[in-house]
Amino acid sequence: MFVIGSGAKHLEEEISRHGNLINVEIKKFPDGEKYVRVLERGKEAIVIQSTYHPQDENLIEALLLGDALSEAGFKKLKIVIPYLAYSRQDRVTKEGEPISVRAIMKMLGLYYDELYVFDIHNPKTLEHFPGIAKNIYPAEAIANYFKDKLGEGLILAPDKGALERAKRVAEVLGLEYSHFEKERISPTEVRMKPVDVDVNGKNVLIVDDIISTGGTMIKAANILRELGAKEIFVVATHGVFAEGAIERVSKAVNELAVTNTIPTEVSKISIVDYIVKLGEKE
Ligand code: R5P
Repeated sequence: MFVIGSGAKHLEEEISRHGNLINVEIKKFPDGEKYVRVLERGKEAIVIQSTYHPQDENLIEALLLGDALSEAGFKKLKIVIPYLAYSRQDRVTKEGEPISVRAIMKMLGLYYDELYVFDIHNPKTLEHFPGIAKNIYPAEAIANYFKDKLGEGLILAPDKGALERAKRVAEVLGLEYSHFEKERISPTEVRMKPVDVDVNGKNVLIVDDIISTGGTMIKAANILRELGAKEIFVVATHGVFAEGAIERVSKAVNELAVTNTIPTEVSKISIVDYIVKLGEKE
């Protein structure tokens, strides 16, 4: 029932332990175009395709798989996208720009009845998908990974926008949570500080959706150190690491972990259980 795209190869072994895989052939023509072929028949399929680099190639492959599955007679198609590319481009900031995530949603909607995305940057953008679209936040998996490391610590979001993530993880662990906010201390100086919590002597887990350059996490971690935090852990759902980011963040904190929506050397938390559950609902 699961079809594994090139962007989800790293999840294949774990998924195959829990569910049946539909055999597909995926290759590239010498000119770089993709070729896919569905080698089995059935009624329903769940395509798993993460769309990290090469993003456009992985997206096109998702469309080709949708077309091939329809052509092969599959009637109901779902797609699980662990990491959705273009999700941060969710509004026009300069005249003439597209809402890129909307273009991607519409394109996927041509073939898929249901879309499941892990921790999408802005859940409101799922409204652009014409069918059923759901956001999955792997709070339990993240909480489970850190449960023995935090003690009576607390969970912090690096900004108010990520507060819901911190809340979800904190609720699983029964811990306190809050977020950082910017405080203007002079016309030229802005300071970041955690709101309404005392971090002195406490272990802290900072939770965000994406780590890219690592700048956000490093800044937050440095402030926590100044405020006397004990051990500092950071976690993000998607490790979209720019070059050198893993090393830079790792040096600034006690531990860095991300989930395996994108395969990286610090993808220590698996999202496969959530994918398997979607298969069980069929
Ligand atoms: C921003 O809106 C996102 O939620 C992340 O905070 C951001 O993408 C992290 O980027 P960086 O690692 O480059 O600071």
